[in-house]
Amino acid sequence: MNFPHDSAVRHVSGESVYVDDILVNSQLLIGRVVYSKHAHAEIKSVDIEAAKNLKGVHAVLTYKDIPGQNQMGPVIHDEVCLAADLVECVGQAIVLIAAETEEIAIEAERLVKIEFTPLDAVLDIRTAISKNMLLGPVRTMQRGDAEAVLKSAPYTITGELETGAQEHWYLETQTCLCIPGEQQEITAYSSTQHPSETQAIIAEVLGISKNEVVVETRRMGGAFGGKETQANWTAAWSALLCQATKRPVKIRLFRDDDQIMTGKRHPFLINYEVGFNAEGQILAMKVSQHSNGGCATDLSLAILERAMLHADNCYFIPDIHVTGKAHKTNLPSNTAFRGFGGPQGIAAMETIIDRIARDLKKDAAEIRRINFYGIDSNNVTHYGQTVELNRLPVLYDKIMQSSDYFNRRKLINKFNSENEFFKKGIAFTPVKFGISFTTSFLNQAGALVNIYKDGTILVNHGGTEMGQGLNTKILQIASAELGVSHSKIKVNATNTSKVPNTSATAASAGTDLNGMAVKNAIDILKGRITELIADEFTRHSPAEPSLKANIRIENDLIYDAENPGRKMPFDEAMNLCHFNQISLSSTGFYRTPDISWDKQAGWGKPFNYFAFGVCVSEVLVDTLTGFYKILRTDILHDAGDPINHGIDKGQVEGAYIQGLGWCTTEEVKWNEKGHLLNHSPDTYKIPSIQDIPEDFRVELLEGIPNPNAVRKSKAVGEPPFMHAFATWLAIKDAISAVGNHRFEPQFKIPATNELVLLSIEQIRSKMKQSVEIPVQ
Ligand code: MTE
Ligand code: HPA
Ligand code: MOS
Repeated sequence: MNFPHDSAVRHVSGESVYVDDILVNSQLLIGRVVYSKHAHAEIKSVDIEAAKNLKGVHAVLTYKDIPGQNQMGPVIHDEVCLAADLVECVGQAIVLIAAETEEIAIEAERLVKIEFTPLDAVLDIRTAISKNMLLGPVRTMQRGDAEAVLKSAPYTITGELETGAQEHWYLETQTCLCIPGEQQEITAYSSTQHPSETQAIIAEVLGISKNEVVVETRRMGGAFGGKETQANWTAAWSALLCQATKRPVKIRLFRDDDQIMTGKRHPFLINYEVGFNAEGQILAMKVSQHSNGGCATDLSLAILERAMLHADNCYFIPDIHVTGKAHKTNLPSNTAFRGFGGPQGIAAMETIIDRIARDLKKDAAEIRRINFYGIDSNNVTHYGQTVELNRLPVLYDKIMQSSDYFNRRKLINKFNSENEFFKKGIAFTPVKFGISFTTSFLNQAGALVNIYKDGTILVNHGGTEMGQGLNTKILQIASAELGVSHSKIKVNATNTSKVPNTSATAASAGTDLNGMAVKNAIDILKGRITELIADEFTRHSPAEPSLKANIRIENDLIYDAENPGRKMPFDEAMNLCHFNQISLSSTGFYRTPDISWDKQAGWGKPFNYFAFGVCVSEVLVDTLTGFYKILRTDILHDAGDPINHGIDKGQVEGAYIQGLGWCTTEEVKWNEKGHLLNHSPDTYKIPSIQDIPEDFRVELLEGIPNPNAVRKSKAVGEPPFMHAFATWLAIKDAISAVGNHRFEPQFKIPATNELVLLSIEQIRSKMKQSVEIPVQ
């Protein structure tokens, strides 16, 4: 169904209330964070006296002023809230300031004197590998004997793929407003994906219990994983300043500071060895994944795990061995970002297929097709989960036809043979993405649904709105399940005092989990309501009783399906329920059934189900400048029976474009001292309007419901990110055309214009060399 995003008009008119828009009284103080300019250093001394004495400054805090634990690692407790005697990255917080204005806070920062003794810093993944400083245990997932099969395989290829970092670039930077209450109480309005964890961290850092802390999140101005754990920092800092001053305190990071201080997508270095036969069928594969975790664990181990779980993408590989290591470096701790390791794992697999095709001089799409997981056989992954309800073959057939792939491939070959300086490329890529948190216990959600006497409904749930349309979908689910119109229902701001102990809104499972919890609450309420109304109808005609099972709620009307004359408007019925002392409020709960995952063994069924999609993309490359243009992109994505077709299509488009940014223009650069070089939009290039494909065709697979999620829908937030690989590999295909597909182009993520040009130059010089060798 199509129904506009609940905030669409307010976003456009500017009336949506973000944390920074919340009206506060004149007591409000502005918080500021003084952070390390060294990637790795001992702190010799911190002098805050002058800053403290500045007029208009109300608090200057160091780690010594933390009343609770100076510890806020979300999973592993290896992150201090404020540095004590050591800093491990540029951007690490050392001192907090609360002042009456931003200007005074900045002035106070200048008065803070910190002395450091710099230490050696490890920044890049290759140095990290040589130092072998790991954030967690080496992980392995395997089946069969890849080593042995590789030895006997007719063809083998070895290589490596580097993938870069990515800045989240949410439009609203990390922000939190804390308001003190009575005694210890504190309310935090936080732009967080994970209010319950933000609540827990605030309580721990302040040294108070969780029932003193309320965290509320109306909406985020984008998050993309960047606020799954890292919103906790601004929340903890503003809470410390709030507690110290007993005044409202707001911290809203400047864009540059946000980019410098917060973690990004994990850069990966992936080594691979693959064995295959003359048809291109993969026989065995060995992959070793190395991630750059930054200076603390954060979610690195779960992200590495998801990368390993996606090392296969859509392909059945009989003998396979995947290892993973997360390395510690002196960068801000890298964190969740749309796809959560999946993109890195899949990028390597797609690179491998691309190389097999070039090696065998076959079309890569065909190599992909013959290696797909089967329907009845060859359908078990390297971690033991059966790929059920496999949509890949149907998606493949449909997109090959709708995109006219093979015909266009011929036209492109012809174009390339006739043009020396412009080359075209095309690629098809599929995606399979596992839906569920791989930390199984996180797959739970709660809700609280209140019906008021006037028949209006307030839905509370544990998920958070970050632009993905969760609250709109929840409203539609509530409306459909209860049988009352949208206009009677409101979805409340997420609040830890309404629904406690929730999981992050992440892993694309927001609607799956919270939608089911809301449905559960509504089922309970419907049970109570229909019982009372059946009694009421019966009371009026005892000779012919109404049965509870026959009472329906539809279109704001309650009626007896066996006796449709007996009916009552929904709002009247709610008033009646109240008079009859029926509770019109219920909690709801859901946990994903039938999943189990043994991390140690690397075996089980970690995912409730898989999401699938396919993409075909065509590009034009100017081989003299490295400039490229996306001529056309076709995407066909499986979103089950969408709860909201428009929102899901928007998610597919947005995710592809965000993936495109990572794969092409978004290059995060640090200098040799660990200073981020591009921390504003003039140097960090996210996609803009001119990067959208000239011809952009996005469709959702119709008529294939998903039995495993609420109202037959399917999670859609992250999986389409991977469609960008079709464009990425189309660029590689165009580069490859420069050498008539005889040489393997140098390639990585991101494929910036610079890299494309270098890669083309390299192929041209290889061409020259090979031409100069006299033919015998
Ligand atoms: N869409 C918008 N507009 N803004 C976001 O921050 N985050 C993405 C995706 N889509 C995001 C988004 C990420 S990383 C995830 S995990 C999902 O939304 C989370 O929401 P869901 O589980 O409700 O799909
Ligand atoms: N995805 C996103 N966030 C998570 C996950 C996951 O699989 N596991 C823990 N946090
Ligand atoms: Mo999304 S990376 O799981 O927040």
